[in-house]
Amino acid sequence: MPAAGVDSQMTLVRTVGEVRAIVAKWRAEGLSLALTPTMGALHEGHLSLVRRAGSLADRTIASIFVNPSQFAPHEDFSSYPRREAEDLALLKAEGCDLVFAPSAEEMYPEGFQTSVSVASISQGLCGASRPHFFGGVATVVCKLLNQVRPDFAVFGEKDYQQLLVIRRMVRDLDMPVEIIGAPIVREEDGLAMSSRNAYLNADERRKAGALNKVLAKMAERLARGDDVGETIHFARTALGDAGVASIDYLEVRNALTLESAGSGALTAPSRIFAAIFLGKTRLIDNWPVEPAWQHAPR
Ligand code: PAF
Repeated sequence: MPAAGVDSQMTLVRTVGEVRAIVAKWRAEGLSLALTPTMGALHEGHLSLVRRAGSLADRTIASIFVNPSQFAPHEDFSSYPRREAEDLALLKAEGCDLVFAPSAEEMYPEGFQTSVSVASISQGLCGASRPHFFGGVATVVCKLLNQVRPDFAVFGEKDYQQLLVIRRMVRDLDMPVEIIGAPIVREEDGLAMSSRNAYLNADERRKAGALNKVLAKMAERLARGDDVGETIHFARTALGDAGVASIDYLEVRNALTLESAGSGALTAPSRIFAAIFLGKTRLIDNWPVEPAWQHAPR
């Protein structure tokens, strides 16, 4: 695939039939394919996924689809940022080969009635406050993977629970694709990049910068063996002091299974998960914890 910035040919298609025809031709030529599913409003975080996809396969495909089935009626589906022209220019500059931007009717034609549900790993964290969310994500990602049939699909670790849900689905349904997780890309003050950051006013944006710093401090404390409950208490207070009035969740869980860490010092590789509200905007972030024993000489 051409290097970033090279004036490559990029094709935009809107139907499953067109995607299948192009992909079939590439397959016949023996080319490998990597897909980056997105909901558009692309930022550097998405572009890092597209670059990762480009490093993995001969042809890079991105999808842009604001998936209605992963939004509850009271959520921001209608106001979710849509900037297709800018997104296409960004994808072209990254050397993306094919963009699939279907309509809602193309993805969910009349009579559509199937959904994919991934059980326990979808529960808790974002699944608790957004019970519809992972069913919608799993269903649309399953469809995209069936439509494109890529060798690789790349997802950001920013939505860590989503990444684990998708990995589980792919394993459980024997889908022939390798799921690649890519690291969170952060703003200068450490705020995890998100299309929803655009909703924040200046005051909320300043407060948002506290979240990653508090998570990093938590990780430090947990790594040296501090009690999980006490560390969460410390972090809640620190977030409150930084002006974050509403915490949806702040939890420490097993990094692979998402089981709750319980109390005392950590005994397994773990991850801190947080969701906060700043005004009406809900932001999520997560941070790995590497307990000291993981690095201890044997
Ligand atoms: O992470 C996202 O942007 C979406 O949840 C995804 C994976 C594109 C499915 O709509």
